[in-house]
Amino acid sequence: MKPPVDSELAKSFLDIARRADETHQRLAPAIANWQKIADQFFKQYSSVLTKQRLDELERIASRSLAITASLKTIQDFERAKASLLGKGSELDSLVKQIAHLPVDQRKHVGAANNAVKALISTALQDAKSNIEIVDLESRLASERADVTLPVRLGGMADGRIHPVSQVFDEIAEIFADMGFRIAEGPDIETDDLNFTKLNIPAEHPARQMHDTFYLKTPNTAQGTNAAPFVLRTHTSPVQIRTMMSQKPPIRIIAPGRVYRMDSDATHTPMFHQIEGLVIDESTHFGHMKWCLEEFCKAFFEVDQVKMRFRASHFPFTEPSAEVDVGAEAIGKPGQWLEILGCGMVHPKVIANCGLDPEKYQGWAFGMGLDRITMLKYGIPDLRDMFAADLRWLRHYGFSAFDVPTLAGGMSG
Ligand code: DAH
Repeated sequence: MKPPVDSELAKSFLDIARRADETHQRLAPAIANWQKIADQFFKQYSSVLTKQRLDELERIASRSLAITASLKTIQDFERAKASLLGKGSELDSLVKQIAHLPVDQRKHVGAANNAVKALISTALQDAKSNIEIVDLESRLASERADVTLPVRLGGMADGRIHPVSQVFDEIAEIFADMGFRIAEGPDIETDDLNFTKLNIPAEHPARQMHDTFYLKTPNTAQGTNAAPFVLRTHTSPVQIRTMMSQKPPIRIIAPGRVYRMDSDATHTPMFHQIEGLVIDESTHFGHMKWCLEEFCKAFFEVDQVKMRFRASHFPFTEPSAEVDVGAEAIGKPGQWLEILGCGMVHPKVIANCGLDPEKYQGWAFGMGLDRITMLKYGIPDLRDMFAADLRWLRHYGFSAFDVPTLAGGMSG
């Protein structure tokens, strides 16, 4: 038996290892392992194979391993795998010859071929892992983020938050601080939720065609307002949806788009409201006044605010009020600004939602979101708010980084 160290294969291995070491240092341990496998191969086969066959296998193995040790990319690897082990490879043609060998040799030659094949497969897998690690390392090195660099503002800096969105965020922040959650409802609402359950009877002016966008459906009778669907005329149906689906205590605000057939400098067919609703067993008008006053102080960012509650009428509240804020809050002393409607939720509305009005009571308010946006930020014409004019948005819009907080000041 040939001692392994003398074999041509072992010599060429040392050579491969030396050369590979220069380019692929990491592969060196794998190459040492290939050598161990090759040594074993010689121990096993040098006495049972002919010199010619042993030489042939040595040559194939050392050539294959030299190629394998020099692979640099995954594409190289795929190609090498096909040409060294695939159909038509030298190893493949050796396997095909086995059938023509004398019977007593077939077993040994077949096993020796397989051993060389296994060696080359192992080497290829090692080379592949090595390529993947080298790739990963070079990516990690080139894509490393320097977290000490200043922030690149990019597109975020060019974009603008619409004042209505900004004001909604400001309001949400203030009410969230008082324990309110945000509720939502659809823009297309049923007549029942938009009107009837809110105690707005069929003959109420809000139901007339000139106010409300009714959606035609196949069974809408001609000349009637009996359409089952409307574009919601206010956010108040979200009160109904909330009371029908949640158990008190309830404390929500509900912002959103609302629609009325109206258009001039202070009215657009689509505008925004924000609804508030508090229901529990004991909350009263005093709580509402306090919450609204706290809201106004935080929103207008003033320490003191003058407020006026004027008696009013809404079918879904009793008593009802409209609320004015002293215009000092926006630097115009001596005037009053109407900002919202509110009141104690009508017992009939509470009952309409399946709650017991003997047990539960509460208050609600509805505020024009666009209106208070105009007041706070000095925007003169409501229609411009929805004209999608980028120059307007650049002027009145907010930076995406200007996130409203109570601590930082609402308007950043
Ligand atoms: N929904 C009323 C409107 O659109 C505003 C309103 C008034 C809402 C009083 C309320 C409320 O919740 O209590 O004019």
